[in-house]
Amino acid sequence: MAIKGEISFPGDKSISHRALMVAALADGDSRISNLSTGADVQSTRVCLETCGIQIRDEGDDVIVTGGRFSDPAYPLDCGNSGTTIRLLLGLLAGQGINATLIGDESLSFRPMNRILDPLSQMGLKSESNDGKLPVTIHQSYLKGIDYHSPVASAQIKSAVLLAGLGAEGDSTVSEPILSRDHTEIMLKGFGANLTTNGLSSMISALTSPLSNFNLSVPGDPSTAAFFAAAAAIVSESEIILNSILHNPTRIGFYGTLQRMGAGMECLETWAEAGETIGKLKVFHQPLNGITITKDDVPGVIDELPIIAILATQADGKTEVRGAEELRVKECDRIHAVCKNLIKMGAVIEELDDGFIIQGPTPLKDAELKTFHDHRIAMAFTIAGLVSDGDVILEYPECASVSYPEFYDELERLKQ
Ligand code: S3P
Repeated sequence: MAIKGEISFPGDKSISHRALMVAALADGDSRISNLSTGADVQSTRVCLETCGIQIRDEGDDVIVTGGRFSDPAYPLDCGNSGTTIRLLLGLLAGQGINATLIGDESLSFRPMNRILDPLSQMGLKSESNDGKLPVTIHQSYLKGIDYHSPVASAQIKSAVLLAGLGAEGDSTVSEPILSRDHTEIMLKGFGANLTTNGLSSMISALTSPLSNFNLSVPGDPSTAAFFAAAAAIVSESEIILNSILHNPTRIGFYGTLQRMGAGMECLETWAEAGETIGKLKVFHQPLNGITITKDDVPGVIDELPIIAILATQADGKTEVRGAEELRVKECDRIHAVCKNLIKMGAVIEELDDGFIIQGPTPLKDAELKTFHDHRIAMAFTIAGLVSDGDVILEYPECASVSYPEFYDELERLKQ
């Protein structure tokens, strides 16, 4: 069996969340096509609708009518989505909304103080369950802030910038390493007064609504990573990834794959709405181990589970350091990866901030937990392509958080 063919992906999850939120602040109707089909982005949509924003489907497109936010009549359910809750906290704080935000079991364990701390320094009054959900925010007078985030996190940066749209004076946010910058690109592109200088961005309060827009969301490179990895490790595979977001803060995985020795060709790149998009060919070649350091981590943060799978098939040692953020994702991804790979017979050592894998090792069949984490489910499905028997996952359906079509598309490409 090889993985062969051509594949296009639903829109990038990070850009999809932001497109809905930014369109809610715009004057009139915005049309978004190729929006992510995952449950996370649906959570953002429903939360915005619950706050009075009108959103409708027109064929495959989604039309958002920007307008005034209103207090939701019941708690906003952010489901499994960290981006939904963290960005919404900033957005709603800036719009003077009273709301309670809740989520599923996984989200309820994740830290929200990283958002509530800067927002409370801006003047937001809120309550939480010791920094966890549920979080209730109250209409508050916000003033600008100069915030140095201790973590390289686009969610923290975006929450401060979105809150800054409704604060008196300028708000500045900086981070130790550049994280994804879609919020900055989109806000600047659609009329906010935002300037970026290296690791720091400054935004001023909105004095009039943003401009409405038509946007086709580029394919999600984090979803495409699972298919690229499959082509890299399964002999005689070759795959074409169409219209993938090529933003430099998001393609760390593809650089990593190349450093590991996979065959890769960039067939074409072009620009749309301030983002670069590309068409890539990935094909099987022998892989070698590599080192991923703290500076590399923000660029591959969502792809580290699939990089661990690649490392088991690579010759030599792969070491991932400085990735302690993985412990507070949809599950503790360091623990999940190590536990599952040990069950499959890989040679892996768990570190506080990453892992060390010695390859190549044959992987064996196993019954594995997904930890209800979409990226763990997809990573271990790909591991199953090179295992000597079946990988049986408990709750594989969680892949639909980002990519409901994952299993069907993978079947289609098996030859
Ligand atoms: C995201 C940012 C990242 C990433 C998440 C999506 C975003 O989280 O892991 O899947 O859309 O802003 P952090 O910014 O907290 O690292």
